Amino acid sequence: MAIDYQERIPNNVHLSENRTLQRALEQWQPHFLDWWKELGPSDFQTADVYLRTATSVDAKGWATYGTVKMPDYRWGIFLADPQEGRTIGFGDEYGKPVWQQVPGEHRSTLRRLIVTQGDTEPASVEQQRMLGHTCPSLYDLRNLFQVNVEEGRHLWAMVYLLHAYFGRDGREEAEELLHRHSGDRDHPRILGTFNEPVTDWLSFFMFTYFTDRDGKFQLKSLAESGFDPLARTCQFMLTEEAHHMFVGETGIGRVVKRTLEVMKELGTDDPASIRKAGAIDLPTVQRYLNFWFSSSLDLFGSEASSNAAAYFATGLKGRPDEAQYQDHVCKDATFDLEEPDGKGGIEHETIPLRNAMNEVVRTAYVKDCEIGVKRWNRIIQKAGHAAELALPSPHFRRSIGVWAGAPVDPQGKLVSREEHERRRAEWLPSEADRAFVRSLMQKVTAPGKMAAWIAPPERGINNLPVDYEYVHLS
Ligand SMILES: [Fe+2]
Ligand SMILES: [Fe+2]
Repeated sequence: MAIDYQERIPNNVHLSENRTLQRALEQWQPHFLDWWKELGPSDFQTADVYLRTATSVDAKGWATYGTVKMPDYRWGIFLADPQEGRTIGFGDEYGKPVWQQVPGEHRSTLRRLIVTQGDTEPASVEQQRMLGHTCPSLYDLRNLFQVNVEEGRHLWAMVYLLHAYFGRDGREEAEELLHRHSGDRDHPRILGTFNEPVTDWLSFFMFTYFTDRDGKFQLKSLAESGFDPLARTCQFMLTEEAHHMFVGETGIGRVVKRTLEVMKELGTDDPASIRKAGAIDLPTVQRYLNFWFSSSLDLFGSEASSNAAAYFATGLKGRPDEAQYQDHVCKDATFDLEEPDGKGGIEHETIPLRNAMNEVVRTAYVKDCEIGVKRWNRIIQKAGHAAELALPSPHFRRSIGVWAGAPVDPQGKLVSREEHERRRAEWLPSEADRAFVRSLMQKVTAPGKMAAWIAPPERGINNLPVDYEYVHLS
């Protein structure tokens, strides 16, 4: 289905055939633009940015590149094509036709799921709004803005569902999505992680690698939903999300590569010497990784969750790639849950599999996170070093679930509270680490030039050279 760009709101959902809905969304549109100008990227609104826009949802048309000023970006409503005869793939309704309208009994739960997902999209734009001032290169600046405009479009995706399927409450929720702000004391974003500002580029790369990947897994779960419009919306969002994680993976890889170059030049792996030379030592990279991985794990929720069981049973939210499983109903299946026994040891509890769905998704997420770590380690190995980056144990530094607050070291071992407190600076970025990383953040905007703490990318965007002027500033 081609996207109609003649419309004020580009879409592939025949918006012009539903005048009431079209008018409602056209009323929301200026509010969105006001939000973008106020809380989107600080400055740069008049810069010409080389961005991709979807022109259709198939493989050919979804990434069309051109130069655009961000406020003129064509945010719109794009759903993956419908699948003829699609049936619900899991839970008690397994095998029945998917819903094209919201079933009355699931209305408030579905609205909550959509609002929670929708809230993270503008939140991340707000968190990252100051980063443009310290970009390590024009290539990176462009990638930041690409991520930002697409998160803005993901907000559109959720707002469309709220307007189209949830009547008046949906319209009110759509307004609220613009009224809550990341870090706002009175109206914060719904999820904790999305209220922390992302003030340096190492954090940005960690965020796009780990936190956008949480987004990927949430979207994959919702792409299985029995509510077909939600499933189709999320399927298309996933194509865009892939680039965000690419930015994170290659960003961290380039930081590591540059650090290794400096280690070679200096002939040492001494963190202080590496820092003096303007690069980020690997132990610091590891501490940032520990921080962002653990905070992203919390986004999946408690290991044992009656909400997760209900979402699965009712067909609202499935498992990523549900088709890979044998049993789609999971009525009597159980899950072995590992938890602290409160006496310094570990105990096992058998819980219904449906209640463990958050943990099932989290486990798939952890596996996906490992792929990048392996790639970064290959870069280190190739440079002839024995050092390795590693994901900390999923029990490390958790704030939600059975491991919340447990004194666990990055290897997953329960340690004493005293040791846990004492070794904190070994495991997590200290104020001094953060201050050092911030001190490196200086804006570099000559085409092709890179900040000293990061290596250039292997290739540019859309086959253009790395030194292409991806953002024209004046
Ligand atoms: Fe997103
Ligand atoms: Fe994203």
